[in-house]
Amino acid sequence: MKMMWMLIVVLGILAETSIGWKYHYSHTIMNWTQAREWCQSKYTDMVVIQNQIENDYLVSFLPNRNKSPYYWIGITKNQKNETWTWIGNNSTWIGEESWAANEPNNQSKEFCVEIYVKTGENRGKWNDEKCATRKFAVCYEAQCTATSCDRGRCQETIDNITCLCEPGFKGNKCQTAVECPPLSQPDDGHLNCSGEKLTFNSTCRFKCFPGFLMTSSQDVTCGVTGVWSGPRPYCTSYKQALLAVVGCAAFLSFFCICFCWMRHRKRKKVAQVRLAEEATSASTEAQG
Ligand SMILES: *[C@@H]1O[C@H](CO)[C@@H](O)[C@H](O)[C@H]1NC(C)=O
Ligand SMILES: *[C@@H]1O[C@H](CO)[C@@H](O)[C@H](O)[C@H]1NC(C)=O
Ligand SMILES: *[C@@H]1O[C@H](CO)[C@@H](O)[C@H](O)[C@H]1NC(C)=O
Ligand SMILES: *[C@@H]1O[C@H](CO)[C@@H](O)[C@H](O)[C@H]1NC(C)=O
Ligand SMILES: *[C@@H]1O[C@H](CO)[C@@H](O)[C@H](O)[C@H]1NC(C)=O
Ligand SMILES: *[C@@H]1O[C@H](CO)[C@@H](O)[C@H](O)[C@H]1NC(C)=O
Repeated sequence: MKMMWMLIVVLGILAETSIGWKYHYSHTIMNWTQAREWCQSKYTDMVVIQNQIENDYLVSFLPNRNKSPYYWIGITKNQKNETWTWIGNNSTWIGEESWAANEPNNQSKEFCVEIYVKTGENRGKWNDEKCATRKFAVCYEAQCTATSCDRGRCQETIDNITCLCEPGFKGNKCQTAVECPPLSQPDDGHLNCSGEKLTFNSTCRFKCFPGFLMTSSQDVTCGVTGVWSGPRPYCTSYKQALLAVVGCAAFLSFFCICFCWMRHRKRKKVAQVRLAEEATSASTEAQG
């Protein structure tokens, strides 16, 4: 029975791959510095809140302590006029609704912040406090590890981790290289590709049989979006190529001749009209 449950849990984790960070709290009270050290020794660090959703989630997770509803959170400052800064990565997020009414009151030495976890209107609100006072600790435990994502960056959210893949990779762990569609052998040449699978960064080189000409660049590379870098080349026999060139030249000369002839005709016509006009005006002048 125990084995079965373990199997279910393991399968569940494999299926989801989205566990996210976990919150933990202490059962004893301590000052801010001690609280942080406690978090760092047992988990990852003191809790960091990045938005209101996380704030609400954290509050719903923590047990109400109506008598002493105070938990330290990981935002502090060193001096009175400094900005409040989260531990870890220098974030300064504070929501519109974060502070309790009339807080922070900026009293001297109130350089640490507690969150109220109790029922009533101040539930989930913050207050600045002296760091030496003793409160419960709230910590988080990171779920992202060096092996969470193969070819991407691991991003942690509540109850979820997400791999943000490098260009050219996909899958929930970014473990799969993007594939390009297969290329068929050219009719009058051959194709040579690097690697077995045609994935991102694979290169294929086309070669034409002797007596044949390539119509475009001989190499194509599989790009980050799974599209080949160029059109698939074709092999053309010299004879065909020559015919094509001759055909083209013939067409061009025909076109040129036509064009010149038409221009010539037009010019002639204009000249005739002008002559006629001059003749008429001359005759009207003579009459007048
Ligand atoms: C936070 O900012 C300080 C001062 O600007 C800098 O020395 C420190 O390296 C930064 N820490 C992180 C984690 O970015
Ligand atoms: C701190 O990290 C969070 C994600 O963990 C990110 O949203 C935020 O932008 C970071 N802040 C800074 C200043 O790097
Ligand atoms: C404390 O300082 C902050 C900004 O530094 C200010 O917004 C807030 O109104 C001040 N609180 C009191 C009670 O003076
Ligand atoms: C927190 O408690 C420890 C151990 O009692 C003490 O050494 C330290 O000075 C205290 N820190 C503050 C800011 O009061
Ligand atoms: C985890 O986050 C990703 C992206 O933010 C989302 O698409 C996915 O549905 C989330 N999974 C769970 C179980 O919340
Ligand atoms: C793609 O191939 C080039 C040259 O072979 C190599 O330098 C580069 O690191 C490769 N990029 C990736 C993401 O594999």
